[in-house]
Amino acid sequence: MGKLRIAVLASGRGSNFQSLVDAIDSGWLQGEISMLITDNTEAFAIERAKKHGIAYRSMFPNDFASKDLYFSAIAEELKKIHVELVVLAGFMRIVRKPLIDAFPFKIMNIHPALLPSFPGLHGQKQALDYGVKISGCTVHFVDGGMDTGPIIIQAAVPVHDDDTEESLSERILKLEHKIYPQAVKLFAEGMIEVSGRKVMIRRDAFAEVDGMINPLPEN
Ligand code: GRF
Repeated sequence: MGKLRIAVLASGRGSNFQSLVDAIDSGWLQGEISMLITDNTEAFAIERAKKHGIAYRSMFPNDFASKDLYFSAIAEELKKIHVELVVLAGFMRIVRKPLIDAFPFKIMNIHPALLPSFPGLHGQKQALDYGVKISGCTVHFVDGGMDTGPIIIQAAVPVHDDDTEESLSERILKLEHKIYPQAVKLFAEGMIEVSGRKVMIRRDAFAEVDGMINPLPEN
């Protein structure tokens, strides 16, 4: 099995990007990050790419006549280097049709809430304000909507009475760093099948991830 060629799109801190880099570096995930694309020259993700010798490009929507043209330029760039999976890691834009059509069910996103609850910005704060007792994170395929595509993996955490947005975000982020590499690994190993809204994961793939699909809180 060859290494999965992955592109990461990120706008900021890039801790999820880092979790993928680490999963690859440790040999757990058979993949390579062919390119980081960012829309923010200040993104800390760029420092991470530099540190790990990963190629990166900054591409800005304002340099294109329309959002569609921006996303077709990204698609072109990624096709040129034979990318097989596009991973959105804190990429703060809604992906448009030209990129989605170029990579059908080959674009993943991670959202810091249990979708379909609390899509969009500040999923953790939305959950806190609503008063839910359980929240978590969701890895899903990207369609044209806001966090609406077929769900691949979710993981749950408790919400405590004294949680702040920061404390809840931190608890969720720890699981993001586990389930995102996990979802990419399942994809890399051909374990994922999509049927309409439903994503099926081959059961034998679960052995290794025991306790990770819906990890119980440690405290
Ligand atoms: C994460 O909370 C992710 O769920 C959301 O954006 C944040 C990105 O964080 N989509 P990072 O840049 O990966 O550290």
